[in-house]
Amino acid sequence: MRTRRGAGAGAEADSHEVVLRVENLCVDFRVKGREVRILSDISFSLRRGETLGIIGESGCGKSMTALALLRMVPSPPGRITAGRVVLNGEDLVQVSERRIRGIRGGEMSMIFQEPMTSLNPVYTIGNQIAETIRRHKQVDKTAAWKEAVDLLDMVHIPAPERRVSEYPHQLSGGMRQRVMIAMALACEPTVLLADEPTTALDVTVQAQIFDLLNEIQDTRGTCIILITHDFGAVSEMADRVLVMYAGHKVEEGTLGEISDDPRHPYTRGLLRSMPEIVDDPADVRVRLPEIPGSVPDLLRGLEGCPFAPRCPSAMSQCRELPGYSRLGEHRSVKCWLESEGPGGHTTS
Ligand SMILES: Nc1ncnc2c1ncn2[C@@H]1O[C@H](COP(=O)(O)OP(=O)(O)OP(=O)(O)O)[C@@H](O)[C@H]1O
Ligand code: SF4
Ligand SMILES: [Mg+2]
Repeated sequence: MRTRRGAGAGAEADSHEVVLRVENLCVDFRVKGREVRILSDISFSLRRGETLGIIGESGCGKSMTALALLRMVPSPPGRITAGRVVLNGEDLVQVSERRIRGIRGGEMSMIFQEPMTSLNPVYTIGNQIAETIRRHKQVDKTAAWKEAVDLLDMVHIPAPERRVSEYPHQLSGGMRQRVMIAMALACEPTVLLADEPTTALDVTVQAQIFDLLNEIQDTRGTCIILITHDFGAVSEMADRVLVMYAGHKVEEGTLGEISDDPRHPYTRGLLRSMPEIVDDPADVRVRLPEIPGSVPDLLRGLEGCPFAPRCPSAMSQCRELPGYSRLGEHRSVKCWLESEGPGGHTTS
């Protein structure tokens, strides 16, 4: 498997300061008069310049995690019911509405899968970038426009002085995503959330966008949270990986740990179902069998290990929800197989 930084990168980043610490974050939805848990006890931390990949099948809670970090959970029916999101020492769950609006697009910004839904078709891209800049910084229109041109140049849009006056429909999908990245970087965020940023793009353009994100991270030290269902994308970008299933973090580790030694049965299934280059003259990508069964409907409320109905190792104990077993400083697994006691083995 091709990796950007290799297995040692997590340890290398350990010497850097923690800029984001998410602690036991829970989101509940009110459905038909009762509360159901959509996000359960999500915790992780991010050091300056690190990329965390969040991976899991559709409906596992990846986007909900990103929305919760920015306090954008759809409400009603949802709300954050527990936990902390500490960014540069400030708990975003507790700050005022005014402050969180400043943080969105400021210290923490987000890029989405489909840039057309986030760009306004009736304004030029220069107008939109300049407006973002002026929402967060005290600069006049001319200075903001100049910054917009510089940002387009930074994300490698050719002829930025001309392109800045164009409308979104005049750009290709890849160029529009570059504009979104430029906009997200306008206020030099500490953390960039990228929710499936390349899914709508073809493979060549996807690779270019990943190269750009890697370059930005190397030059600016921006932390990136990359949300995807594609482990290939994670292996291109991430230092560390968080695997989600049914609103739980089921496993976390460095890219090397997760790809070489996955411990949770769900992670193993996900990796097995990844398309791989096979050794044949046509270099064909083959899709291996998917995990049988489907992601449970969280709105029904779940008991025990949520993966049990699909797990080849399920046992009677799995009717209870397992806790986290720590396998290393930043390595944890939520599965009875990794815990001490009956059914599991002792971990250190
Ligand atoms: N507005 C909403 N109302 C009700 N349920 C919702 C809402 N938004 C999300 N959910 C539920 O929350 C759970 C997590 O959804 P989320 O969008 O975070 O999944 P995801 O991992 O991002 O999936 P995908 O890969 O498809 O983007 C799902 O079970 C979904 O049905
Ligand atoms: S706790 Fe049980 S059901 Fe859940 S993943 Fe582990 S072995 Fe499978
Ligand atoms: Mg999503």
